[in-house]
Amino acid sequence: MRVLSRRGTPVEDAEVVRGDLETGEGLAAALDGVDVIVHAASSGTDLRRPDRDVGAARRLLDAVGGEPHLVYISIVGVDTISYGYYRAKLTVERMVEDSGLPWTTLRTTQFHDLVIMLLSVLSKGPVAIVPRGFELQPVDTGEVAGRLVELALGEPAGRVPDMGGPRVERVEDLMRAYLTAVRRRRPLVRLPIPGKVAADFRSGLHLARGNALGTRTFTDDLLDRAGPGGTITPPYDLRRR
Ligand SMILES: NC(=O)c1ccc[n+]([C@@H]2O[C@H](COP(=O)([O-])OP(=O)(O)OC[C@H]3O[C@@H](n4cnc5c(N)ncnc54)[C@H](OP(=O)(O)O)[C@@H]3O)[C@@H](O)[C@H]2O)c1
Repeated sequence: MRVLSRRGTPVEDAEVVRGDLETGEGLAAALDGVDVIVHAASSGTDLRRPDRDVGAARRLLDAVGGEPHLVYISIVGVDTISYGYYRAKLTVERMVEDSGLPWTTLRTTQFHDLVIMLLSVLSKGPVAIVPRGFELQPVDTGEVAGRLVELALGEPAGRVPDMGGPRVERVEDLMRAYLTAVRRRRPLVRLPIPGKVAADFRSGLHLARGNALGTRTFTDDLLDRAGPGGTITPPYDLRRR
């Protein structure tokens, strides 16, 4: 297995190539001789410039030689929620479909890591803010990785069934679980969020209700991560984007 990333962080049992999909650096070395590509790179938190992911995907597709199986990870609701980052994901989905390569695309709901990051930010101040009326179906990041490996080792399958976590939960309940795990006491403030995108999320277009393929709950993951000391390492380094 070979991993391409900008920082070249070591990965167990993998050859790591330092490179950048946006500049093309390292791409040839990373792609040399591969039979399967799992495209999971994203500058996801740069929400003002979702086009970065489209350019990165274009560079990847242009650099591919031969006919490797291309596996892409996307998000439930990218075709129905009119949000810049989601529109970019949908554009990349279509580029993958039209690439002429054998392909597989998996859409999932929000990863535990992302939900932990959001809850951490929303509870930094003296109150914990939760968007009123929002639900999430958090899915364990390791279980998503396992599913991607299964798909990568299988035959190209096109769009496969969406994957969500085992429970649909109100964000305020997720916040309560988070505050308990990190031993933080905060009054909850339920903030009404205006606009079409928020309405789409309130109506649940981002959920995979019939496809709760993940089994590990958010609370179980939280408690494992926090341990008895209540400290959770931030899952994302937001400075590196
Ligand atoms: N988070 C969610 O809830 C969620 C839900 C559904 C689908 N997804 C999708 O799953 C994928 C991974 O999401 P994530 O939240 O796990 O993201 P992440 O932790 O930020 O991982 C993204 C990875 O991409 C690498 N990367 C970013 N830009 C790159 C570039 N230009 N060239 C090479 N490598 C680059 C980063 O490493 P370096 O910084 O070292 O380059 C990092 O390892 C994304 O496609 C996302 O849209 C995420």
